[in-house]
Amino acid sequence: GVVYRDGALGRRPAVPTSFGDLERAARRASSKRAWAYVAGGAGEGRTMRNNRRAFDRWAIVPRMAHGVTERDLRTSVVGTSLSSPLLLAPVGAGALMARNSDLAIARGAAATGVPYIFSNQGCSSMEDCAAAMGSAPHWFQLYWSSDEGLVDSLLHRAETSGAEAVVVTLDTTMLGWRPQDLNLGSLPFARGEGIAQYTSDPRFRDIVRQRVDTARNTVTERPEVTPGAIRTLLSMTRNYPGRFLDNLRSPVPRAAAETFLDIYSNPGLSWDHLATLRDRTRLPIVLKGIVHPDDARRAVDLGADAIVVSNHGGRQIDGAIASLDALLEIRAALGREPTLLLDSGIRSGSDIFVALALGADAVLLGRPYMYGLAVAGQRGVEEVIRNVIAEFDLTMALTGARSIADIDERFVRADPSFR
Ligand code: FNR
Repeated sequence: GVVYRDGALGRRPAVPTSFGDLERAARRASSKRAWAYVAGGAGEGRTMRNNRRAFDRWAIVPRMAHGVTERDLRTSVVGTSLSSPLLLAPVGAGALMARNSDLAIARGAAATGVPYIFSNQGCSSMEDCAAAMGSAPHWFQLYWSSDEGLVDSLLHRAETSGAEAVVVTLDTTMLGWRPQDLNLGSLPFARGEGIAQYTSDPRFRDIVRQRVDTARNTVTERPEVTPGAIRTLLSMTRNYPGRFLDNLRSPVPRAAAETFLDIYSNPGLSWDHLATLRDRTRLPIVLKGIVHPDDARRAVDLGADAIVVSNHGGRQIDGAIASLDALLEIRAALGREPTLLLDSGIRSGSDIFVALALGADAVLLGRPYMYGLAVAGQRGVEEVIRNVIAEFDLTMALTGARSIADIDERFVRADPSFR
């Protein structure tokens, strides 16, 4: 209501209110490199398109004269109370788009009461992000490191800095095939973006220190020191107690940069690793990136509290199943009980309505809030969130849904005009 009234009173928004216009404005506001990374997807972009096409296949069938004047958008997932069924997805390397990206997002999320899931590839430490959010809810997203000590350290920090759940992302044990980035010769982390959770981690700094010492002692030839490696190194020196700068012409920067690259994930991640998680943290466990019903069943058997049905916004496997289609299959196979979140392709309030009608308990928003950030910083993030929620509320009002529990498959059907 507030958003609409503002518009009707002639107050100009800071960000466009339709996704298409928002995307164009964000592109204009971004560097080539930032746009390639944030807007880009895997391969030819088929999964990204599938994510949207899957929504186009469904039509909302509203009811009339239902007398609904008040809606209750509140719900809760894995013990976190939500003012609406929306969370901000973890997005790494956001500094490509704006200075202090994660702090701006954290403040925007706190101002709107929408939980923010801090990325393991974040640009500010989770402690700094948590401080920026005050008492507003946040979760932490973990990439399972090849170093088990680092896994424990990150879990511990998530607990002590007040995360209400840990989200383990399963679909990115390696970065997908991303032509937009490859063509620019630009890897997001090459300039040190997205490494703040590591540089602020005592275990990580120990590992770097060991590797650097080994490199100092064993390598005699002078290795190539790329600008990227140096920048990575520079951002590490802020927290690392050693004197790296004295050693720029040695193998040391190389070792430091490489430590990051081969420690961020474990390509051999298996269910055996995940089975240890329940005993390693007291936080609710959310597994992200599942699209097969058998994997969903395994996650539930393992004690996961929720699943994020997701294909990482179409960034990992070109041609992967649309996440909305996967949601339908998983809900059909597992029944009503498990908590299922959905992301990949949510662009509007009516998308949220369709996702909930088809079995999602809540959704995550990814690129749209990053576009808000690119266009208007923290205020842009807030407006994107408010707009999406306002449209969702309006959709409930106009269809006759009183509460989140009200929204079910009776409100949607396969669109007969879909080709
Ligand atoms: C992501 N995503 C992501 N996921 C995750 O678990 N950890 C991460 O660090 C990142 N980083 C990241 C960076 C960027 C630039 C994007 C666009 C996405 C995936 C993200 O959490 C979410 O799954 C998708 O963004 C959802 O799809 P939409 O809303 O972008 O279509």
